[in-house]
Amino acid sequence: MSDTHIVILAAGKGTRMKSTLPKVLHKAGELPLLEHVFRTAGALDPVSTTVIVGHQADVVQQSTPKRLGLSFAVQEPQLGTGHALLQAEPFLSGRQGTVVLLSGDVPLLRPDTLKALVRTHSERKAAATVLTAAVADPDGYGRIIRDDSGAICAIVEHRDATLNQRRVAEINSGIYAFDLNGLFEALKTIGSTNAQGEYYLPDLVTIYRGRGLVVETVVAPDSREILGVNSRRELAEVGAILKRTRNEALMESGVTIVDPASAFIGPDVTIGADTILHPGVYLEGRTSIGSGCVINSGVRIIDSQIEDGVVINNFCVICDSHVSRGARLGPFAHIRPQSNVGEDAHVGNFVELKKTTLGRGSKANHLSYLGDATIGEKVNIGAGTITCNYDGVHKHPTVIEDGAFIGSDSQLIAPVRIGEGAYVAAGSSITEDVAAGSLAIARGKQTNKPGWVARNKKTR
Ligand code: UD1
Ligand code: CA
Repeated sequence: MSDTHIVILAAGKGTRMKSTLPKVLHKAGELPLLEHVFRTAGALDPVSTTVIVGHQADVVQQSTPKRLGLSFAVQEPQLGTGHALLQAEPFLSGRQGTVVLLSGDVPLLRPDTLKALVRTHSERKAAATVLTAAVADPDGYGRIIRDDSGAICAIVEHRDATLNQRRVAEINSGIYAFDLNGLFEALKTIGSTNAQGEYYLPDLVTIYRGRGLVVETVVAPDSREILGVNSRRELAEVGAILKRTRNEALMESGVTIVDPASAFIGPDVTIGADTILHPGVYLEGRTSIGSGCVINSGVRIIDSQIEDGVVINNFCVICDSHVSRGARLGPFAHIRPQSNVGEDAHVGNFVELKKTTLGRGSKANHLSYLGDATIGEKVNIGAGTITCNYDGVHKHPTVIEDGAFIGSDSQLIAPVRIGEGAYVAAGSSITEDVAAGSLAIARGKQTNKPGWVARNKKTR
């Protein structure tokens, strides 16, 4: 275990998002901004993680999954970044080691960059190390001011900077490593005489240099890594970068993505080689897709396992389910939670499965609702078959054994069992079990009345 502690700033209001949702809970690349920061911080194997919350503190806290060593400190009111870090004191006082300060709204930072920051910080025995970046447009950022020897001596906020200082293209990323020793004592000496009347954390640089302590910098290799999200536009920009990086890695591993700009694939999704993704697919959560699959346009798959060689036609939605090798789905199939589509099974257009197992080689090709059903192998479910699983209070099961044939437009009123190889005549309303090998007909008898039309036709 390291001696590294993480503090994440997430107390700010995020005014420019114009949202009732706290900024750090907005998603980019399928994950909340704060979750990206947790994952990057995880690379340092931290002893503790403290999130500074303030604006909508309770919402942020409740929406964040519990983790080992995670605590929240409330900053109220929010008096600036220096004041924000000070709120971590109760969690870190008496500890030794390094504090790495991250921003909850900076999701693109790479673990390697963070490791480089910490490495330099400890190698140089620095009191503080600032992650900086060279950017084309430094407007709005704090500028890195260096002395004649090239060492950092101050960070000046844009609003407080002189015209000369504003020409500096090296900016403060807002990410730092600090030696815990003396940190909180020094934070308390920061003043608030600046354009915003806030306690600026970057002022620590001047304070430390004044005391003759070592302050270091590390330049981020790619300045996009330190992009912060302040508006919906920036949220989309960051999302696009995450998507491109993710999709490039998948293509590198042998997945064909026909239009990478419109393929949305979550960070925890796995996809086998030679699978083809057509435009407009959404693969989310803990989804795994085998190799040699074809996922057509408009498909959304959440928390599901798709085995090798599966073809999913356009506009299917699959949630929390399993699809075995060689199956074919859609177009327009809805596979709801806890469903299992067996090997080489077919689920056709406008078919909905809920908590249903469709056995190997079985077919439900058209317009069906199959809920709470256990369907065996090589079963044929005719067009328009409905399992009537709900009596208004309880859900009831339907069992259809191997090789059964359900005629079109049948209703299976659950609980009910159709035995092995049994036939149900089209248009039947089945209320009783059907024994193996039997034919069940349960529909009104047809009566034909010859000549009825002519007799009843009005004569002019
Ligand atoms: C800050 C830095 C600036 C740097 C920039 C990088 C200061 C004074 N300035 O500016 O040098 O270039 O980040 O993006 O630090 N926060 C709190 N409590 C507060 C104030 C802020 O938790 O009282 C949090 C915010 O939610 C945010 C982070 O701190 O996550 C940065 O705050 P923000 O106001 O966005 O700082 P900048 O003005 O961008
Ligand atoms: Ca600000």
